[in-house]
Amino acid sequence: MAEKYQPIGVFDSGYGGLTIFKELLRELPDYDYIYLGDNARNPYGTRSFEVVYEYTWEAVRYLFEQGCQLVVLACNTASAKALRNIQQLDLPVHYPNRRVLGVIRPSVEMIPEMTKTGHVGVLGTTGTVLSDSYPMEIAKMSAVRPVTVVQEACPMWVPIVENNLIESPGAALFVEQNLASIFKKDPQIDTLILGCTHYPLLSEVIHRFLPEGVRLLNQGPIVAERLLDYLHRHPEIENQCSKSGRREYFTTESAQNFDQLANLFLGSEVKSKHIKLG
Ligand code: DGL
Repeated sequence: MAEKYQPIGVFDSGYGGLTIFKELLRELPDYDYIYLGDNARNPYGTRSFEVVYEYTWEAVRYLFEQGCQLVVLACNTASAKALRNIQQLDLPVHYPNRRVLGVIRPSVEMIPEMTKTGHVGVLGTTGTVLSDSYPMEIAKMSAVRPVTVVQEACPMWVPIVENNLIESPGAALFVEQNLASIFKKDPQIDTLILGCTHYPLLSEVIHRFLPEGVRLLNQGPIVAERLLDYLHRHPEIENQCSKSGRREYFTTESAQNFDQLANLFLGSEVKSKHIKLG
């Protein structure tokens, strides 16, 4: 085990990654962690490829500077728009021994066993939907039995979560509209991917408008299970992750605001620190 403090970094544009982080803490509690939310520059979902890549790489470098050898992008938009560049271009040149993982691949791997009708819906940010990452990854997985994928961008859902408007009538209105729209595109959908880490925070509202028999794919437990498996398969990385159960929280916005909402979402006390990126 690493003797130095070498936490696992968990990054999101804001609070959404906490839905992944919570499951990591449950499944892999012994490791040290730093959670970083770029709340000041959220949302990422409506930003260009170049900007999401730039912001994400800044955040990853910051986490590396704190000692992280492994970073999980707990954000679909960053996974869709920045992960490939970081893995293929940046890490080999600048940090050949460090690793950055995303959330799209592990989610897609669950699809063949989840869908009976072979019709899957993806709810995501505009950026994730336009990147076509989900349809492309699902196509790779379903060579034997083709899966039909339809997507719906839900640009209001992240601001609703970031502003803690989950219980508001506006939240119900937008959730109902987006769900109606995706089921209109394909009424045979039996599996709906919550392809944005903020969306599980709207689960209760989503369930109110979900047609009977449709299953929701919630990424948190899947990503946690896949990370556990990854660490078993890669002892050279696992050995680099320190284990003293320490957790740190960084935000690019007000630490006080972050703590309030993070407490609510995680169900435990959070004391974050304000940092600057870029
Ligand atoms: N939580 C992020 C995701 O999974 C992005 C939200 C945003 O910043 O738009 O896509």
